[in-house]
Amino acid sequence: MKTISVINYKGGVGKTTITANLAAELAFRGKRILAIDLDPQASLTFSFFSVDEWRENFEALKTIKNWYDAFIDKDTDLNLKSLITHPTKVNLGKGCLDLVCSHLALINVDLELATRLIGGTERDLRNNFLRVHSRLRHGIESLGGYDYVLIDCPPNFNIVTKTAIAASDYLLVPTKPDYLSTLGIEQLEKHVGEFVKTYNRYVADSGSDEWGNIGAETLGILFTMIQIRNQQPIEAQQPYIEQVRKLGVPILKTYIRENKTIYAGAPEYGVPVVLQRVSGKTYEDVQAELEELTAEVIGKIST
Ligand SMILES: Nc1ncnc2c1ncn2[C@@H]1O[C@H](COP(=O)(O)OP(=O)(O)O)[C@@H](O)[C@H]1O
Ligand SMILES: [Mg+2]
Repeated sequence: MKTISVINYKGGVGKTTITANLAAELAFRGKRILAIDLDPQASLTFSFFSVDEWRENFEALKTIKNWYDAFIDKDTDLNLKSLITHPTKVNLGKGCLDLVCSHLALINVDLELATRLIGGTERDLRNNFLRVHSRLRHGIESLGGYDYVLIDCPPNFNIVTKTAIAASDYLLVPTKPDYLSTLGIEQLEKHVGEFVKTYNRYVADSGSDEWGNIGAETLGILFTMIQIRNQQPIEAQQPYIEQVRKLGVPILKTYIRENKTIYAGAPEYGVPVVLQRVSGKTYEDVQAELEELTAEVIGKIST
């Protein structure tokens, strides 16, 4: 089982769109997928369920917030399994796509988790740091039966996001080719590196077998919302792609073109673009990119 966080500080770069399509295509290809929505905006959740369905069936007792709450309120571990939902429209093939939904009030969880980091002695501080940040990692490890766990991260570097990084084998970083988005990548890499280093230093200092080392590897930067002309990204975007290349971070070969009509207006609700049954050259090109992305991700992980 491999865990991949789809992450970027910036909102609106395509994290949720990529998570939903990758999850759906992997499941279509026969893989067993668990998607976890960690963003309080809950866009991934609402890609698969309507707001009404969510309210009726999941809001009270079946979201990732219940899981963090159990830890904050009672210091207990809920079984992540008890929170798993099974969207039906994307589960027609051999594989499986399960989802742990988010909750709009997940936004408060970060503040509450922060109070759990406080400790009197250096040793308390260290143990609290490891206990809080390893939480999702241990929750996911206790689940069996999935090929990939995909985590849709919120656009920040708060504690919930760090629990995702600690749980991850890989990070996939969707990015728009513009100034602010590319600037953020350097910061993200730096902060992830510092977090992993601190975590592993605490693990060593603790001298305990309870914690293992972490080390999420950047699978790649994925350029999204690329404007295409003559089958090439337009010239205005090239400097930003170059700028990222200079950082020495891996860049995926696949890029995702911008198409507002297709991405905003999927005709069948609850089904990501890649699995929509729509004909037409533009639609096929867009779907081919998403299929190519899926193949590239599988290829990079299995080698
Ligand atoms: N390749 C694309 N072309 C055009 N619009 C896109 C594309 N990918 C995503 N979008 C749209 O952009 C908005 C932000 O995408 P989203 O995946 O929610 O980003 P994030 O999760 O990073 O905030 C959404 O309205 C989505 O439909
Ligand atoms: Mg999102």
